[in-house]
Amino acid sequence: MKLSQKLAKLLLAIIAFSAPSLAGDAYQTYCASCHGAAGAGNLSLGAPNLTLLSSAYLTRQLRGFREGWRDTTDPYTQAMSAAVAALDAGVVAEAVLAIEKLPDSREISPAKPAARNTDRGADLYTAYCGACHGTNAGGNDALGAPSLLGLDASYLVRQYRHFSEGRRGFHADDRYGKQMIRLSRLLKEPSLIDDVSAYVAQLSQ
Ligand code: HEC
Ligand code: HEC
Repeated sequence: MKLSQKLAKLLLAIIAFSAPSLAGDAYQTYCASCHGAAGAGNLSLGAPNLTLLSSAYLTRQLRGFREGWRDTTDPYTQAMSAAVAALDAGVVAEAVLAIEKLPDSREISPAKPAARNTDRGADLYTAYCGACHGTNAGGNDALGAPSLLGLDASYLVRQYRHFSEGRRGFHADDRYGKQMIRLSRLLKEPSLIDDVSAYVAQLSQ
């Protein structure tokens, strides 16, 4: 066999081997470029870890991004909304199934978040957050409260502020988001939000 024929054969074998998995994994095709091949997120793109989120929560958030539940003046929210706007519902459902199969990751970057008063954060968490998000922040699906683990402090702070500023949870159909809006009115001082978020990020280590 000539070298060019050998190469052509090899190429065909590679295509045949990789094509089914590519076609079958909507996550790797449409999401991994931002959220990472392992689903653990990408801090520089503002894309959070998805591996610890339940399929009920993932499905609801994806519906929300597609139906305008989040204010897209935030560039991160805008990037995510644009990424899923044109996908059909079947592809999004396939991506959720693929995310559920990814191994759980609690990896957070940067490994050392900015120093904050995590003792005060722990007290705040127990008083204001644990009832819904769980003592160890593992989430409570029955209440619609997601796991807060594996998320870096800057992401947690940003989402918390989105609720308290009415950029997330304002939509008439977003009943779970509304609960967080109500809660976020109790704790508005920025340094308290930073402390509680630093404490939550520490729980993942
Ligand atoms: C262009 C980059 C990009 C692509 C592609 C992308 N995302 Fe995102 N995603 C983001 C960013 C940035 C955020 C954070 C949005 C914010 O802060 O409001 C996000 C947030 C999310 C959230 C909300 C997480 C939470 O904790 O509430 C989910 C769920 C999600 N993405 C799933 C997906 C899925 C599934 C796909 C593929 C179908 C996808 N994303 C494709 C950038 C992207
Ligand atoms: C009454 C129950 C309740 C309490 C108390 C509560 N939360 Fe939530 N939280 C929720 C629900 C429900 C959601 C999901 C909202 C949605 O579907 O968009 C949520 C979502 C969040 C998110 C977004 C996570 C993500 O992946 O994007 C953050 C961050 C958050 N909560 C932080 C906190 C903090 C910090 C506290 C305490 C100061 C707190 N929550 C207290 C119910 C609660």
